[in-house]
Amino acid sequence: MDENITDKNNENNEKEDNHEHEYDGIKELNNPSPMWVILLFLVTIGFSGIYAVKYFGYPNNRMDQVSEYKSSVEAQKLKMSMAADSKAGSLPEPAMIAAGEKIFKEKGCIACHGAKGEGNAIGPNLCDNYWINGCKQEEIIQTIAEGRPEKGMTPYKATLSGSQIKQLAVFIKKSLVVSKPVNGKAPQGVECK
Ligand code: HEC
Repeated sequence: MDENITDKNNENNEKEDNHEHEYDGIKELNNPSPMWVILLFLVTIGFSGIYAVKYFGYPNNRMDQVSEYKSSVEAQKLKMSMAADSKAGSLPEPAMIAAGEKIFKEKGCIACHGAKGEGNAIGPNLCDNYWINGCKQEEIIQTIAEGRPEKGMTPYKATLSGSQIKQLAVFIKKSLVVSKPVNGKAPQGVECK
């Protein structure tokens, strides 16, 4: 084997394929790889370019791992919030009322509207059917979400979710309005017909 290589070098290459570079008695021979190896090598380089652009991502192609991860997290979040919302939105009415009552007590509504919603020096009576800002469910939701800061009613859209506010509105309309607390504050606004 060793002999063969030496023979080959001596007989053929030294004359024809000599690059005529010689350093310290070592000659550089022109000994190219076979064409198929070169081609294969070029193909792999080309492939790596395409692969890199596709999977490390040109801006916003959304194929790279980071944006793939981000979009799957976003999708999951959306799914969860939709599930939570539709669950709350499709609760049977008694459950909506119970949930609303709990929020009414826990979130400090009682501070201004009284423990039974009867109203006090600050906030109006929520048990009578007289309304300053409208009696429709959407109007009540609007009042709770946006508040009436200039009149002393806190906005709640930052602290409560849409479905929690809806539960509050259902609780007020279906449970408070029909209740008749003994110490209710005098009606304010217009009667709901
Ligand atoms: C800091 C005191 C305060 C707190 C806390 C408060 N409210 Fe009010 N609320 C008011 C006042 C004052 C008004 C009257 C606003 C007006 O005159 O337009 C009001 C009005 C309302 C109305 C509309 C009444 C109407 O006649 O149109 C609803 C419904 C209501 N509040 C629900 C709630 C709920 C539910 C909570 C708890 C999440 C809450 N409020 C917490 C002070 C408060």
